[in-house]
Amino acid sequence: MAKVSSSNPLSVQQMFEKLAPRYDAANTFISLGRDKPWRIAAIKAINAPKNGTVLDIATGTGPVAFLWSTYGVKVVGLDFSHEMLRVADSKFDRNKSKVDFIGGDALKLPFPDNSFDGSLCAFGLRNMADRDLALAEMRRVVRPGSRVGILDFTSPTNPLVRAIFEQYMRRVIPFVGGRITGNPDSYRYLGSSIKNFMTPEDLAVHMKKVGLSSTKIRRLNMGSVMLCTGMK
Ligand SMILES: C[S@@+](CC[C@H](N)C(=O)[O-])C[C@H]1O[C@@H](n2cnc3c(N)ncnc32)[C@H](O)[C@@H]1O
Repeated sequence: MAKVSSSNPLSVQQMFEKLAPRYDAANTFISLGRDKPWRIAAIKAINAPKNGTVLDIATGTGPVAFLWSTYGVKVVGLDFSHEMLRVADSKFDRNKSKVDFIGGDALKLPFPDNSFDGSLCAFGLRNMADRDLALAEMRRVVRPGSRVGILDFTSPTNPLVRAIFEQYMRRVIPFVGGRITGNPDSYRYLGSSIKNFMTPEDLAVHMKKVGLSSTKIRRLNMGSVMLCTGMK
């Protein structure tokens, strides 16, 4: 497999195809089981109307999509990894969940303009080759007045917390993530991709660049998780 890099979408896709069966288990470990409140904060920040339709970009195994569907909205979850979507589908109770999973590229969304009442991308944008295009696509497909949100890891600002976080990412995550999934390199990539990713302040600038206004940023989990939203 080629070295994983966000500038090489095929390498990212192949990595997630392989990780899919063990992704949820590894995810729970990496977030120390604390990811649900972050996802809830993101869903609430989008504040989509009841009975509206929302879009979960890079839905993966569907953790945001399933949660969002409990807020009275219909959810479309999009991802370019068919294995991740297969795992999402296997968890899906068709009678209860108002979720549709579809294959597609976040950089070329297969939806007309103004189709959704909000859109979120959790832990996905960092892996994309053209982040401005991904943000512009999210903006394009939501209706005017709707919000677009990004939830992702970031480097904490407090130097002590940052040093602990970096050690955790460099030493613990590749070891344990590797043991759970058999792919330590994927978890080395995770740490380096977070280190090289935008700060929340930079992300807000990129959101404004693609035409999103009223941007809001919030740091969670001692500053290691960011939630950024903007309005169309
Ligand atoms: C770290 S997982 C996040 C999954 C889920 N959103 C979550 O919160 O756990 C990143 C996901 O982004 C997807 N992805 C990355 N680039 C993509 C793109 N250009 N289009 C669609 N999906 C993409 C990957 O296939 C993977 O499922």
